[in-house]
Amino acid sequence: MSGEYEEAFRESIRNPEHFWGAAAKNIVWYKEYDRVLTPGDPPFYRWFEGGMLNTCYNCLDRHIEEGRGDRIALIYDSPVTKTVIKYSYTELCDLVARCAGGLQKLGIEKGDRIVIYMPMIPEAVIAMLASARIGAIHSVVFGGFASRELAKRIEDAGPKIIITASCGIEVDRIIPYKPLLDGALALCTHTPSACIYVQRKEKMVDLKGEQEISWDQLIDAEPASCVPVNATDPLYLLYTSGTTGRPKGVVRDTGGHLVALSWSMKNIYGMEPGEVYWAASDIGWVVGHSYIVYGPLLHGCTTILYEGKSVGTPDPGAFWRVIAEHVVSALFCAPTAFRAIRREDPDGKYRAKYNLSKFRMLFLAGERCDPDTLVWAEEILGVPVIDHWWQTETGWAIGANCAGLELLPIKPGSCTKPVPGYDILVLDTRGDPVPNKETGNVVVQLPLPPGCFTTLWKNDADYIRTYFSAYPGYYLTSDAGFIDDDGYLWIMGRTDDIINVAGHRLSTGAMEEVLASHPDVAESAVFGVHDSIKGEVPFGFVVVKAGAERNKGKLPQELIALVREKIGPIASFKTAAVVQRLPKTRSGKILRGTIKKIADGTPYSIPATIDDPAILDEIKAILQEMGYPKQ
Ligand code: COA
Ligand code: AMP
Repeated sequence: MSGEYEEAFRESIRNPEHFWGAAAKNIVWYKEYDRVLTPGDPPFYRWFEGGMLNTCYNCLDRHIEEGRGDRIALIYDSPVTKTVIKYSYTELCDLVARCAGGLQKLGIEKGDRIVIYMPMIPEAVIAMLASARIGAIHSVVFGGFASRELAKRIEDAGPKIIITASCGIEVDRIIPYKPLLDGALALCTHTPSACIYVQRKEKMVDLKGEQEISWDQLIDAEPASCVPVNATDPLYLLYTSGTTGRPKGVVRDTGGHLVALSWSMKNIYGMEPGEVYWAASDIGWVVGHSYIVYGPLLHGCTTILYEGKSVGTPDPGAFWRVIAEHVVSALFCAPTAFRAIRREDPDGKYRAKYNLSKFRMLFLAGERCDPDTLVWAEEILGVPVIDHWWQTETGWAIGANCAGLELLPIKPGSCTKPVPGYDILVLDTRGDPVPNKETGNVVVQLPLPPGCFTTLWKNDADYIRTYFSAYPGYYLTSDAGFIDDDGYLWIMGRTDDIINVAGHRLSTGAMEEVLASHPDVAESAVFGVHDSIKGEVPFGFVVVKAGAERNKGKLPQELIALVREKIGPIASFKTAAVVQRLPKTRSGKILRGTIKKIADGTPYSIPATIDDPAILDEIKAILQEMGYPKQ
């Protein structure tokens, strides 16, 4: 219906208590909240204070009690192990309750942290829901991170236990997890009381002592019932890249999170209970939390847990197969997945083999979608393709075409309009709104809607400093963008040292820290360069220490191996080069942005503050020799 979006948006900003109070009626509360929104001490707003509920109850038990227990809750589809397993709501709830009982037997109580470091297997989802069931706080760490990154997260979260698996499977490569976890624990001062291992037959592990327990042992327990928690209690911590090597522990509350996700399933994604929703992400990322696990289950949908890549070998139609076989209504993935598919199947030859008649919509996020890829996807799928913008911090979309409310005309390259609840402005450095179509800093007027992060774990000061101090009264997204004359929002890129590689958020600062740890490196600059599939990939320039020149030839390979070892393969750090000097401002700031522009072949001007402009010519010559800018 025309005007539904505008009306919802206006109401959400004019009267947030009324708007979100209505949305909260879809959630089962043990105890009704006292107030929808408590201003408290800004930016520390609280949603649904006084309310008591349980996330797992709303995702599982509730559906069973309402007679939907036989409906399929979860489909595990794993081309890498050639397995498809379906779990009904009753079956999933039973496993979750027994896992929760096992956790309680190990002494886990409300508020305790559980780190989950797992591949994309059903036990990972079960562990998350079991943690929620007993009011514990989970912190899932992406399986592609190496020991050092895992260690940072363990150290900060201080988990009582860690749940992991014997191995992950990357297409045809077995990744043993135990050495990675043991390596991480060796770096930590914090020691968990137990580590639980799911034994996968592709590579089992020897478990030693009372602290190493198998998953089967864990779930051999009496089922636990749901523990009521406060709406404002944390459901999970999720670490995300900041501008330094220290990841930020985003804290998600319970009540606001459920209300926002429930609203989004219907009004953004247009899903009906009973339909199949597929987020082709990983549980280690926020998309996996919100739309593999909590959102679809809360809404009574079937969710798909897919262990594989977007382009299978030898089958470039891997995604089409899943959509057709499981009758998927909506798919959510990163544009990189579609760029990879397009490379393998440009004419949609493989797509034509599958019946996708029930497929209604494709949603893209994680990085900006280039208009070419979006239009291509629309053409070969014949359905609306919606680019929407969000962040780990918000937990759900900030800008989107709210297809469930009203599908607005699609403008490729734009993420359409602010989602109800997000009052977005584009400001210049002085804090004044910029005119339409001019790029500036994208901010959100406070309060943020429910579901957004409530603080950083044990770090209120950083929460305020990083996100709320640049423009008091506003949340700084650290994305640059503009609003056009139709009110459409265009997000163009980060304003900080974060890059998006294949939809994964990575800190160039963290990579520079690793490079600096090499004994031969005096200083370094890591920046993102354009990549036709992954959007962006990191590139590192280093300056060697005096006396270390003779190792220069071998150094790039050593640095590449070091980043892989310390951060993990997911960093996709595959290019490094040695330079004599790095271009800097007179105050010593490295001009990463200018180097990036030279590498990408985008126009650049020589900064007025540059120390020595001749260095840019040297950088340009080296990049040219290495084949940059790429065609
Ligand atoms: N454990 C260990 N290693 C992992 C891993 C994990 N969980 N996940 C990724 N890696 C490794 C990969 O094997 C690869 O290693 P390599 O350098 O030795 O080849 C590296 O990390 C980079 O992985 P990735 O970014 O996934 O690149 P890729 O080349 O393997 O695949 C795509 C590229 C586009 C096909 C793939 O990223 C894809 O299918 N993406 C779509 C999924 C999606 O939508 N994600 C959304 C995130 S919100
Ligand atoms: P993450 O926290 O991993 O979800 O990454 C968030 C960042 O990804 C945002 O700050 C943006 O820079 C980028 N991003 C996510 N979705 C989009 C999108 N649709 N368009 C442009 N950038 C996006």
